[in-house]
Amino acid sequence: MALYPEYPLISDRLRLRPFTRGDVDAVYTYRSRDDVARYLFDVALSREECALAVQQRIGQVALEKDGDKIILAVELLSTGSLIGEVSLTWHSADARQGEIGWIFNPDYQGEGYATEAARALLDLAFGPGDIHRVSARCDVRNGSSWRLMERLGMRREAHFREHAIFKGEWDQEFVYAILRREWLSR
Ligand SMILES: CC(C)(COP(=O)(O)OP(=O)(O)OC[C@H]1O[C@@H](n2cnc3c(N)ncnc32)[C@H](O)[C@@H]1OP(=O)(O)O)[C@@H](O)C(=O)NCCC(=O)NCCS
Repeated sequence: MALYPEYPLISDRLRLRPFTRGDVDAVYTYRSRDDVARYLFDVALSREECALAVQQRIGQVALEKDGDKIILAVELLSTGSLIGEVSLTWHSADARQGEIGWIFNPDYQGEGYATEAARALLDLAFGPGDIHRVSARCDVRNGSSWRLMERLGMRREAHFREHAIFKGEWDQEFVYAILRREWLSR
């Protein structure tokens, strides 16, 4: 089933909305940082690379076929500041599998905003999206990310050791997941 959500998604403190051209500076403030990029597949981005990333994200608002992504800007309702982004990737339309991800500006970390935004995206995935299972993965050293997965009620399903090269070294990766019925019964 394709998913064409109605935006914005609103939670207690946040607005999740499609990216716009005006978001480049806000995205640059966090995507240009080495500490933010440390466990991402990307390196820290230049302003031009941020502009390109934002341009791509503007069209990433619906799931129509395998591999499509929804990537949303996360804004504080109180100020309108863009504080980060969350993503939902459709891996298998047949088996209704999704993958969730997050990147937040360090100035706004430690407040539960990423958890709140991820919950809003999981409500979309398991509600209107009718996705069956949502997974997430991270480097095992990325404690902020896997603690977030556990706060969401996701289960650690895998600990891969040296199954890929990450930034020039053997990786170690956790995979977490939650099923639709588990999310709905929480
Ligand atoms: C991963 C990332 C999004 C987590 O951000 P975060 O701010 O730690 O996550 P949350 O917004 O859910 O906040 C949780 C923290 O705030 C605290 N907190 C404060 N108020 C809270 C609330 N109302 N609800 C939940 N947590 C709250 C929690 O105790 C927790 O702290 P802890 O991790 O020290 O235990 C962030 O570290 C990040 O963007 N990293 C760089 C990019 C990256 O690595 N992305 C993931 C790639 S796999």
